[in-house]
Parts: sequence; structure tokens; C-alpha cells
Amino acid sequence: MINSDPIGLFDSGIGGTSIWKEIHNLLPNENTIYLADSKNAPYGLKSKEEIVALSKKNTEFLLNQNAKLIVVACNTATTNAIKELRASYDVPFIGIEPAIKPAANKSETHTIGILATKGTLSSELFNQNVMNYPNTKIIEQVGNGLVQLIEEGNIESVEMTSLLKTYLKPMMEANIDYLVLGCSHYPYLIPQIKKIIPKHIKIIDSGEAVARQTKNILTQTNLLGLEKKSSQIFYTNYNPMVLKSILNNKYPVIEKEF
Ligand code: DGL
Repeated sequence: MINSDPIGLFDSGIGGTSIWKEIHNLLPNENTIYLADSKNAPYGLKSKEEIVALSKKNTEFLLNQNAKLIVVACNTATTNAIKELRASYDVPFIGIEPAIKPAANKSETHTIGILATKGTLSSELFNQNVMNYPNTKIIEQVGNGLVQLIEEGNIESVEMTSLLKTYLKPMMEANIDYLVLGCSHYPYLIPQIKKIIPKHIKIIDSGEAVARQTKNILTQTNLLGLEKKSSQIFYTNYNPMVLKSILNNKYPVIEKEF
């Protein structure tokens, strides 16, 4: 059976487009609807209750557009709200969490770094996951200010470079060989990060794994779509120019209150 209803994705802003890109690459025939809640970014400094409420608001908007599956394209929303979302709505949810497992399994120095938001690093889900790797030293770092700069379109600014240097220095000093990007905004910083860290430190993000998981779940639940000409719709509630530009002006962006 073919199901041409859209895959819904949401993030606190434009960062989840890094996940959308992986999903669109793997599943080009799927219709998608992406929601950038940029008006409420960053989620990383909000309380769990606020993150759950915002995640429910985003989910309901996507369900009203007939989303057949929802990708929570935000580590902060996943680690704080996915349990509540799964309990409240009868639709499959795919979440994104910092990719500790592949980094810990491959690390030769048994030391890895994780850059993520305060909301993710302080969540119960993240801290439970960390306990599965007692033999790996995990250097956690909150990326204060990074999401705000990305949302303002200041990815290549001097301020960004200076924040990244400050956050990455303790990890390099601790001899990490893997750096996990635990926020869907951060893949957009990879060129800047590569200028700071030595070549032997590998960078891992969760985009490809989330795309593979999305395909698996759609296949298992008989929800795959096969549109010859699929549609990709983007909504934002703040500053559409930044979202347009991160999509290289290839897709229309609708500005809307939600
Ligand atoms: N993209 C979100 C994440 O993956 C950013 C959270 C925020 O808005 O602080 O965590």
C-alpha cells in the first residue's frame, strides 16, 4: 500500500533542516512538512514543561496537516518530550539523540566529547544513556549561544569562532578522538569546527541514522510514499529569510503563526 500523506518534522528553528536533508536524500519520493519554531528558539534554555508544551503545539499543527509520522528533529525536544508525545498521540514518532554509541564503540582513547544544549545534557533520557558507557570518559559541553547565532544567520562570525574555540579546547586537552554533535543545528558548524580541531578527531552527528530509522519505520508500518513529484513544504513563525538561505533558496518558505 502507498501512503502519500506527508512526513512531519519540527525543530526549535532551522537546525532540524540538517535532518530533513538526510531524510529527503534517502526518501526523495516522500512529501514532507517542516516546522521551524524559530520564534521560540532556543528550546535548550527552557524547562522540561515548556519544551513538552511547545512540542505538543508543533505536533498538533503537523497532525492537522495529516502528517503520517513525526520526526522530532531536535535533540532537546526528543530528550525532554518524546515520552509525553508518544503517550499523547497515535502516530509514530522518530526522535534524535546524541550519537554516543558509535562514538564510544569506536573511540581508541576511550574519551569522547559531546556538544549539546543545556536542555539535552540535563535531561533524564541523556543521563540514562550515558550510564551505558562506564568505560568511556564523556566530556560534556553546553553550546551556549551557538543556536542563537545560527538562528540569526551568523554562522561564519568571529563570535561563533571564538565560542567554538572555548567549547572545544577542554575536549582537545582531554584527548578526545570523537566529537558528537548533540544538537541538530550544529552540523551547520562543521566547516568552522574543522578549522579548530585536529584532523584525527572525527565528528559524528545523528542525521543519517535518523533517516535510516525513518525509512525502516515507514516500511514496517506500511506507510511509505512513492510520489513521482513530491512536495517539500517549510513553515516558520519568525524570520523566513534565514530558513530560505539555509535551504539555498531552493524551496519556498511560508511564514505563519503557530
Ligand atoms: N536543534 C535543537 C537541538 O537539536 C536546538 C535546541 C535549541 O533550540 O536550543 O537540540
